[in-house]
Amino acid sequence: MLKNQAGDAKRDSLHGHWSSRMAFILAVTGSAVGLGNIWKFPYVAGENGGGAFVLVYLICVIVIGMPVMMSEILIGRRGRRNPVATMELLGKEEGSSPRWKWVGGMGVVGGILILSYYSVVAGWTLAYIVKSATGAFAGASAAAVGAEFDSFVGDWRQVGLTHTIFMALAIFVVARGVERGLEQAVRFMVPALLLLMFVLLAYSINSGYFGQGVSFMFTPDWTKLTWGSVLAALGQAFFTLSIGMGAVMAYGAYLPEETSITGASAAVVTADTGIAILAGLAIFPLVFANGLTPAAGPGLVFNTLPLAFGQMQGGVFFATIFFVLLAFAAWTSAIGLMEPAVAWIVERFNRTRAQATVMIGLLIWVIGFGSVLSFNVLADLTFLAGTIYDNVDYLTSNIMLPLGGLLIAVFAGWVMCRNSTSDELGNSGNLFKAWRILARFVAPLGILFVLLKAVGLLDWVASLIA
Ligand code: PFF
Repeated sequence: MLKNQAGDAKRDSLHGHWSSRMAFILAVTGSAVGLGNIWKFPYVAGENGGGAFVLVYLICVIVIGMPVMMSEILIGRRGRRNPVATMELLGKEEGSSPRWKWVGGMGVVGGILILSYYSVVAGWTLAYIVKSATGAFAGASAAAVGAEFDSFVGDWRQVGLTHTIFMALAIFVVARGVERGLEQAVRFMVPALLLLMFVLLAYSINSGYFGQGVSFMFTPDWTKLTWGSVLAALGQAFFTLSIGMGAVMAYGAYLPEETSITGASAAVVTADTGIAILAGLAIFPLVFANGLTPAAGPGLVFNTLPLAFGQMQGGVFFATIFFVLLAFAAWTSAIGLMEPAVAWIVERFNRTRAQATVMIGLLIWVIGFGSVLSFNVLADLTFLAGTIYDNVDYLTSNIMLPLGGLLIAVFAGWVMCRNSTSDELGNSGNLFKAWRILARFVAPLGILFVLLKAVGLLDWVASLIA
């Protein structure tokens, strides 16, 4: 088998290996399926007008997300180090520059920033476990459920406390390491979550507003689509698949040689997209049935689902289980968000995994207070994209992840030689050719175009030429 140009026969990861192909797929799926699917997708789709956004999102997932995910995994497996060191090593090895390490560096920073607010919302789900279990939503009206949410996020101490508990949980699993920590957490979560989504879906179908929900999600109203919402769809595709920031690259570093990257990526993309669509189908009918607005923002899921559970037979039980599963899904995603930074500290500064995790975890916890306060004390402090939370979200999802994905695709498609990539992907004829066209042309140009168009630069250049 062709090996890298440096000639070392088989590189090994410092952090251990996945015990099987299934373990890898489960771990990447665990990282991909999270708040992004169930909390973020419906609310961003709602804010951006529904159908047209969903269609653009699906196109982004297939023609950009899938090839970028494959690129990221193959780079990770070839380098077998943390994303910073892997990009540096491969940059040199492929005859380019060690400065590619900055792509890994951007991922480390991106993960820290994303988790800083992700943990806050994950904290909300923890609080909602308790609220559901104690029957706070049983038979509650839409107004009561809404008031409960507003009063909860309005109190920075409660939000700060649940953010703290969630970060402690995340630190705990990441500190335990690849095999013991990451794998076990995922094994039951995804299937159980899927099952509960079907229960919700059945309820939605019976709500009488299913048709309206479906039509909101799948009938494109192109007049509602701005370049800003196209960028939001692209950002959502990256966010939900956990790509563009080295998380999947870090996981790829622990992937055994013989596993098919294409097959694993296809499985993850299918599961992730399926769960997001299911979440939308469950939520939008409930939004319309209860006279709520799809553009309600980050509180959307917390305002609709408790309402549905509150009216359902056995609702207290289902609601509790649902929020437990959502918290689990967030937990397995948080692991992916921390992994690039932790692996980097371990390798670069020779720290133990536990030390590195605590250091990074504390940093994220502190930064997270910017988002904790965005929903209460500092709610009126707005600039650029909105509150501190809005800005961190916009910067990471809509700028850093697409930019990271662009550079990763360029690296795999142009910088790495054909032999290196075909060695990793397996040169299976048309599939490899299709990946190469997507990674070299479609993904980079598509991302660049949307980024430039959304910030108005393209029109500015065009006006200069005209
Ligand atoms: N994909 C996760 C979600 O949809 O909730 C969020 C995420 C996890 C993004 C891990 C990036 C990452 F590295």
